[in-house]
Amino acid sequence: MSDISATAQSLLAEGKGILAADESTSTANKRFDDYDIEHTPENRRQYRQLLFTAPEIEQYLSGAILYEETARQVADEGTPLPEVLADRGIIPGIKVDRSLKPLPNFPGEHVSQGLDNLDERLDEYAEMGMRFSKWRSVIAIGDGLPTDECITANAHVLARYAGIVQSKHMVPIVEPEVLLDGDHSLEDSARVLERTLNTVFQQLAMYRVDLGGVILKTSMALPGSGSSEDVDHTQVAGTTMDVMEKCLPAELAGIVFLSGGQTPEDAIQHLQEIAVRGPYTWPVTFSYARALQEPVLKVWAGDPENMISAQDAFLEQVKKASAAQMGAYAANSAE
Ligand code: 13P
Repeated sequence: MSDISATAQSLLAEGKGILAADESTSTANKRFDDYDIEHTPENRRQYRQLLFTAPEIEQYLSGAILYEETARQVADEGTPLPEVLADRGIIPGIKVDRSLKPLPNFPGEHVSQGLDNLDERLDEYAEMGMRFSKWRSVIAIGDGLPTDECITANAHVLARYAGIVQSKHMVPIVEPEVLLDGDHSLEDSARVLERTLNTVFQQLAMYRVDLGGVILKTSMALPGSGSSEDVDHTQVAGTTMDVMEKCLPAELAGIVFLSGGQTPEDAIQHLQEIAVRGPYTWPVTFSYARALQEPVLKVWAGDPENMISAQDAFLEQVKKASAAQMGAYAANSAE
C-alpha cells in the first residue's frame, strides 16, 4: 500500500471521523456573531485550542481539517496547534482552496480558486505536519441550475487539485458540495448529486488520480432548506447511498459526509441510518463542522469560564457521531 493510501485508511478508521475546523476567517466570524463573540485572531485561537485539547476526543476523531490561520497558531504553552493534534494521534490536514469566484456568464454559479502556487504552498504545509488537504467546490440547485458547464468547471479544478496534492504525497479530500439552499425535492437533490459525482469521477480518471488515495467529502441527498417535503432519516440515507453506489468506483478510499446546514441531531441520525443500511464497498464516516461545533459554541459563547463545559459538549457530540458511524447511535438514550 502506498503512503497516501495508508494515510487515507487511517483517516477512515472504524468508529472515527474527521473534525472540520477549517472555517475561513469570515465564516468563523459569522459563526461567532450568533454569540456576540469578538472577531479577533486570539478568540479564534482560543476556540480552536478548546476543540483540539478536549479530553478523550482522540478516541473518536482520526483527523482534523484546519484553516491556514489556525495552522500557524500555537497553544498557550507554545506548541503549534497542528502538533497538539498530531501528538494525540489526530492527523492534521488543511483547507487549500481559496474561496469561490462567480463563474462568468453563469449567473448564480461559482468556481473555487487556488490552484496557482498550490504545489509550493503544499511543500510548506507538509513541513508544518499536514498529511492531507481539503478543497471545497459548491454546486447550487435552482431554476436551470446547476449547468453542466459549472459542474464540469468545478470537477476539473477538483481533479487538478487532487493530482497536485498526491504529487506531494498527501491525501486529497475532494469536496463537491451540493448546497441545501432552495426549495428542491429529495429526488432533485439526488439527481444533481449523481450528475456532480459522475463528472467529478470522470475528471479524476482523466487526470490519472490514484483513487485509492482519495477521500470523497460529499453532501447527502436532502430536500432543500425551503422545501416542505417531509422525509425521514431512513429515506435520506437510502437515497444518498443509492447515489453513492451508482456513481463511485470501488477503488475510492472512502466517503466522508459534511453536515451542510442540517441540525446536529439530523446529521447524526442520517449517519446512523446510512451505517445501518450498509455495509458498503468503502468506509463511510463523518467530516462535520457545524454538526459537531454548534453545541460547543453555544456553551462556550466566548467566555473562558465555560471552557470545560464546552469541551464536555464537544466530547459528547463526537461520541454521538462515532456511535452513528458504527450504527450504534440511539437518539435520547445516547450519552
Ligand atoms: P459543515 O459540516 O458545517 O457543512 O462543514 C463541513 C465542511 O467542511 C464544509 O466545507
